[in-house]
Amino acid sequence: MDFRTAPLDDTSAQALAATGLRYALVDAADADALDGWTRADFRGFHGRRPSPEQLAGARENFAPRRNTGVYDDAGATTDPVGTVNTWPAPLTVPGGARVDSWAISSVTVAPTHRRRGIATALLGGELRTAHALGLPLAILTVSESVIYGRWGFGPATWATAWSVDTKRVRWSGGDTPGRLSFTEPEDYEETGAQVLDRVMADRPGEIGLEPYLAKRLVGPLKGDPEADKARLVRYDSADGEPEGFVSYSLKGGDEDFTRHTVEVRYLAAATPEALRALWRFLLELDLVAEVKVWTRGVDEPLQALVNDVRGARVTDLEDHLWVRILNVPAALQARTYERDGSLVLEVADELGFAAGRYRLTVQDGRATVSATDDPADVTLPVTALGSAYLGHDVVRGLALAGRIQGYADALDRLFRTAVPPRLSTWF
Ligand SMILES: CC(C)(COP(=O)(O)OP(=O)(O)OC[C@H]1O[C@@H](n2cnc3c(N)ncnc32)[C@H](O)[C@@H]1OP(=O)(O)O)[C@@H](O)C(=O)NCCC(=O)NCCS
Repeated sequence: MDFRTAPLDDTSAQALAATGLRYALVDAADADALDGWTRADFRGFHGRRPSPEQLAGARENFAPRRNTGVYDDAGATTDPVGTVNTWPAPLTVPGGARVDSWAISSVTVAPTHRRRGIATALLGGELRTAHALGLPLAILTVSESVIYGRWGFGPATWATAWSVDTKRVRWSGGDTPGRLSFTEPEDYEETGAQVLDRVMADRPGEIGLEPYLAKRLVGPLKGDPEADKARLVRYDSADGEPEGFVSYSLKGGDEDFTRHTVEVRYLAAATPEALRALWRFLLELDLVAEVKVWTRGVDEPLQALVNDVRGARVTDLEDHLWVRILNVPAALQARTYERDGSLVLEVADELGFAAGRYRLTVQDGRATVSATDDPADVTLPVTALGSAYLGHDVVRGLALAGRIQGYADALDRLFRTAVPPRLSTWF
């Protein structure tokens, strides 16, 4: 079944109808309808009114997704009062499999209609639709961390922001072979998308990017007021293989021309050589005093690349990708494990999808999972299972907090991975 035209969830349609609201799929071929949906989406995140260029871009970018609106037909506007869009995104899991996961984005409710259950209808509807389509997980990135736990999502990757004092540090990393060149986003779009696909496939927590999401990382989208400040540098290996790029802008420098700030829009490195060469390029830029970067992994090796570890500071550490397990056996069997073992998990899930008792047996790194009546070794809510799923070091903390009961150490040993998961973009 085409996920774009799969029927709307009846439970949510009825709940909304009971409050006088209409739940509807937006026909991507209906430009007026999609423009109204986009206006509501921008407003929902306190953005500017979208320009004609941005509306045209959104028509192209959102057409491949399933766009849903909630309409108040008695109100003074025909634009929706609630929005969401979804698509199956390949999520890289430990071991390298890419699992189609229900990516949820653009969740907004008009401030005129807040706190009367519209988001509840939208989220419940999306989870039931994903489950009906057979997807084992739902994923999202969040504006506020208090919203999604109630629907069974748990934070599963963490992201760091950094500030490097480039007048203080000197390069201490290894060789940086290969070639750096300036290029333009329109010339590099296709190659950039290929590099991004390697990056995303290589790391648990990353997702395969739609053309729109990839384009946004290579350079600013049409209509971006900052577009003419963005620079793009590509890295090609000594053999001429495209392996990375960095997109960045320069800010400041008004008071002291020798002290500009570099803001990294996105750094993609498919190999360690590309990572080193691109960081070295940024850290050695003349007329620059600071390099700032966001949404890197918790293991970004910046302090190892410079001679003065205090010159490279983590300025933020935040939850990033949230995971909602919908099908426990399918999700747990899709990833691999770094140790063998067997555990009975009792999963609590108020919405029902994942609730049950399961035996997880890992042999040679591969899991088999089946329902069981054996006594539980570990009892945990579905939010905690989502948090632990990609291998991040969360189990001990959740156990100490009393949110996981039983043999949490055994669960930790099974689920945690040597390389922490990372999601390096927003969606
Ligand atoms: C977040 C948002 C979509 C919630 O929509 P809503 O229709 O008001 O949510 P609901 O009425 O269905 O609320 C469901 C529950 O979540 C709680 N909740 C919703 N949003 C919350 C928030 N931002 N902070 C704390 N609690 C929140 C409600 O209090 C309610 O709790 P209850 O069931 O205990 O009463 C809406 O506030 C919004 O559009 N915010 C701005 C855009 C945004 O941040 N979107 C999220 C993108 S990731």
